[in-house]
Amino acid sequence: MGISDRRPKPSVQDVFATDTNPAPSVMRNESPADGWPTDDVSAERYFSKEWHDREVENVWRKCWQLACREEEIPNVGDHIVYEIVHDSLIVVRTSPTEIRAYVNSCLHRGTLLRTERGCVQSFRCPFHAWTWNLDGKLVNMHQAWDLSHVNADDMNLPQAQVGTWGGFVFINFDENCEPLTSYLENLPEHFDSFDLDKRYKAAHVAKIMPCNWRLAMEAFIEAYHVAIAHPQVLAYYGDSNTQYDVWPGIRHVSRMISVQGVPSPALTGIDPNRTIEEMRRDVPFFAGKPIELAEGDSARAKLAERAREKISRSIGSDMSSLSDTESLDLIEYMLFPNMVPWGGQALPICYRLRPNGDDPETSIMEIMFLFSKAPDGSHPAPAEIRWLSADQNWSDAPELGSAAMVADQDTENLYRIQKGLRASKKPGVTLAQYQESRIRHFHATLDDYMSRGDDGSVTQISEVRTPRR
Ligand code: FES
Ligand SMILES: [Fe+2]
Repeated sequence: MGISDRRPKPSVQDVFATDTNPAPSVMRNESPADGWPTDDVSAERYFSKEWHDREVENVWRKCWQLACREEEIPNVGDHIVYEIVHDSLIVVRTSPTEIRAYVNSCLHRGTLLRTERGCVQSFRCPFHAWTWNLDGKLVNMHQAWDLSHVNADDMNLPQAQVGTWGGFVFINFDENCEPLTSYLENLPEHFDSFDLDKRYKAAHVAKIMPCNWRLAMEAFIEAYHVAIAHPQVLAYYGDSNTQYDVWPGIRHVSRMISVQGVPSPALTGIDPNRTIEEMRRDVPFFAGKPIELAEGDSARAKLAERAREKISRSIGSDMSSLSDTESLDLIEYMLFPNMVPWGGQALPICYRLRPNGDDPETSIMEIMFLFSKAPDGSHPAPAEIRWLSADQNWSDAPELGSAAMVADQDTENLYRIQKGLRASKKPGVTLAQYQESRIRHFHATLDDYMSRGDDGSVTQISEVRTPRR
């Protein structure tokens, strides 16, 4: 009997089959569930400085990564500073149709040209006032009489690659990198229904996490831990019947779908009124006038109806045909190495995880909310980042609402995982075959990048590979 036969029922696809408004076709697709290996994944990658240093070269300087949202830099001269380990880029709109990423370091003696976002028409170094225009050309050297040996034409600001998709701006330090369009694989096709370019960044909270960046990400790409770490959600959240998608031949993208408005398969005989009340208790989005159930009504159908009413009001357009799954469910994608964008309308979240400088045992986690723009494309100003210190809780950021409690529960565990891995005498972590298949897939891709030589060639074959199919 394979994994497919052993998984708890109802499956996500069984739930979709009885939905009031049917799921879009991309949600009716399920990847093969069987065939993943059972090998452990080495533990040293979560704390080794040598691993971290190699990862900087092979991952952070080779892979596409999310820098910002396009709506954060709408005008010529608008820019943000994107930092990854010790690399720093100024991501700037240089024309209405062009965004560039300049290496954020003065070509005189190395000073950071910008330390924060803003709008400028040139980059003037604060040390000796060498100045570059938005095209990256050196246009002023202070007291040039002393610099006759410097040729301004050799002093253009170096650039990284820039690409955009779904309203996100991506950067890549590698001038020989694969184009963003092929790197994204099936992500654009899947997000056709979810229109992320019609969203804007309504909240953005960042926190230093007490763990390696991969541990933080892995805690958010499986639902195996939900019944234990977040037991408050089980009356309305499908945990053990979560669908995990890792598609053959796809390297950078994976997905999970957890249905909401139905209880965990572990709970039987749950009164649908309890499902509704506990979901309303934890998710203020469903608060307001009572939700009445008539004989034969399902909690999921009623909650989806309420979600559609609320989404219609907040967007200012009729969303009554929105599918139940887009109205309610956790539809979470991952783009290697570190971006976790959610589909649907119910939970408009995007996570980003990064190393915290050179410390492999702490990381930077960011939670963004991407709300829909008005039908005419207008929207409030995008949210500034709220930075939480290591000592603050996610719940110190009220804009995160109910997502904060769940993230705090996970953060407490992550502290223990990081410490426990250092205490362990076992060389690897053991993963569930299906429910942790996205973690396996992530490590298979990571191992592939980590095993490449400087010329991009594969120098060793890693142990954790793609499924045996
Ligand atoms: S270091 Fe920038 S002008 Fe001198
Ligand atoms: Fe969690």
